[in-house]
Amino acid sequence: MISQQTIQQIQSRIDIIEIIGSFIKLKKRGTNYLGLCPFHNEKTPSFTVSPAKELYKCFGCGRSGNAISFLMESEKYSYVEALRWLAAKYNVDIEETAVSPEVKEQQQVAESLHIINGFAQKHFTKNLFDTEEGVTVALSYLKHRGFRQDIIEKFQLGYGLENRNDLSAVALANQFNPDLLVKSGLLVMRNDELTDNYRGRIIFPIHNNSGKVIGFGARIIRNNDRAPKYINTPENELYVKSKILYGTYFARQAIDKNDECLLVEGYTDVVSLHQAGVENVVASGGTSLTVDQLRIVKKYTNNLTIVYDGDSAGVKAALRGMDLALEEGLNVKLVLIPGNEDPDSYVNKVGATAFTQFVKENKKDFILFQLSVALKDAGDDTQRKSEVVNQIAETISRINKAEDFTKQQDYIRQCSQLLRIDENGLNTLVNKFIRERVGKNESRFASGREAPPDVLTDLQQDDNFNLLFRDEMHERAVVRALVEFGLKEWDENRTVADYLMEEMVDEDLFDNKQLLKVMHTYRAWYDAGMAPTSKTFLYTEDQQLSTLVVSIMEFPYELSEKWKTEFEMRVPTRDEVYREEVLATMNYLKLRKIKRLIDQNQEDLGKPHTSEEQLMLIQTHQHLKMMERELIRQAGTVILP
Ligand code: CTP
Ligand code: MN
Repeated sequence: MISQQTIQQIQSRIDIIEIIGSFIKLKKRGTNYLGLCPFHNEKTPSFTVSPAKELYKCFGCGRSGNAISFLMESEKYSYVEALRWLAAKYNVDIEETAVSPEVKEQQQVAESLHIINGFAQKHFTKNLFDTEEGVTVALSYLKHRGFRQDIIEKFQLGYGLENRNDLSAVALANQFNPDLLVKSGLLVMRNDELTDNYRGRIIFPIHNNSGKVIGFGARIIRNNDRAPKYINTPENELYVKSKILYGTYFARQAIDKNDECLLVEGYTDVVSLHQAGVENVVASGGTSLTVDQLRIVKKYTNNLTIVYDGDSAGVKAALRGMDLALEEGLNVKLVLIPGNEDPDSYVNKVGATAFTQFVKENKKDFILFQLSVALKDAGDDTQRKSEVVNQIAETISRINKAEDFTKQQDYIRQCSQLLRIDENGLNTLVNKFIRERVGKNESRFASGREAPPDVLTDLQQDDNFNLLFRDEMHERAVVRALVEFGLKEWDENRTVADYLMEEMVDEDLFDNKQLLKVMHTYRAWYDAGMAPTSKTFLYTEDQQLSTLVVSIMEFPYELSEKWKTEFEMRVPTRDEVYREEVLATMNYLKLRKIKRLIDQNQEDLGKPHTSEEQLMLIQTHQHLKMMERELIRQAGTVILP
């Protein structure tokens, strides 16, 4: 982990104008800077950067954030990668915090494996271009298959010689640790001797997001029934198959730009498509996708298009992983390549334009495709057909995010037509599956092991949820008051933060757990003697928290000079009337709580009771009403929203 001190150092040097300015052209407008938004297409600039708040916001597409999130969004860096980039730019030495011995050991192994892999990659490339065997056997094979020199170099392809001691001799001569060489999968122990593992094979290096080699796929050149077609790196500290999609390093910007990720099976498919200019493509290695792999895709786009050859076993494997994709909220489409072709041979045959055209025209919806295959399989067997109905209802029920509600309804309609069954019946079945799962989830959350997902952020766009959202606005207002005015004076003895913390003893005041987390985080920092501001949140590692705080903070607007002179009025700034704001926001939450208690109490009153209970409830009602009046009185002239 990068130490807090280093992060603070980086943070203190960040000049958001300089950083964003090195990617897009910015012009000064008042105290802010304006440019063309890099996240959506626009002709008139609406991308605004505030050096004072160290924030950017696009008034066209709504994206906002800080210098770090800008690097993460536009360069597709991880948080740590962005920090390293900034550290390099501002010459800050990175200090790593003390880690446990096991973690340290693991990091050292990973670092050594990086070095060994990098060394081996260069060696394999040298073999390919500079040895006679490499040129005559491997390079000619690649050229024969149509791979161009520039693309071979870009993907850093290489060759493992037939000689069983080619790599092992130089690796040992370079003092690499034998255990690590075995761990890397490059060498294997045969008859007490370290020998090369990838002999007579084309080498495909696999890169992580910063372009370092984390493993290899080694394809045999001569067909040989006794040897596997590919040998892949074994699982180790760097190579975790379930978290790797081949080609992401080369594809991520194109995926972002096209807002679509093509998924193919093989290494050669990725390389060939790149050569043809189709760069938004990654490979699964023919196995079904894991949640981690889907999340990699989801980082860049919501649109996943599977491009497989029609009769490949991989299609079945891919279909298996797709319920997960729906849960992740991905739109999954499927394209089957005709004939005996795979994407590699097909793009070589028809060219890039025809390939892209074919994909565009033959994209099938994944769920409908799955249904038609299953229906064909079931034939006239009613028992099997009802299984299909259940299966598809279960699949559709996985689309349970509020934002995808209309999508779910569309599927129910289309599938019921395909199945020739009643739409309402299918609807009921889908709801049954949703209820079952919600039931399960609730018991999972109730046991306290996992926090329920924060759905509110997903709901904000939806009109139906405006009511809920309006309620949340007030919670947000309290958080904003705390973050913005927390360090200001409340009365002689207390800061605004002190006051709000005291009032917040009742955590029921908040519905949104994420917002509550902001309050908790603030308190932890504050209690530890720090002086938290919005900037402290901006650069915290928890990006969800940071984004939330960014979305809450107001972007600084400027009153135009004209306005000021024309009306000759002084508009008080929020800074000047912060006490009113703090009081009003807090009081609103309390009022809301009391109103809820009154409603609850009234509901109880409606039920049969003994006269004693009845009296208690009425007293409670009067007490609550009194508190309500007091709160409203306190609020005085402040108009409650
Ligand atoms: N694969 C593997 N091990 C094998 C066979 C295949 O790991 N024994 C994985 C590889 O990632 C491979 C992918 O499955 O890229 C697809 O397999 P296939 O289509 O057979 O290989 P291609 O890479 O397309 O190779 P080629 O075009 O040269 O046949
Ligand atoms: Mn192939």
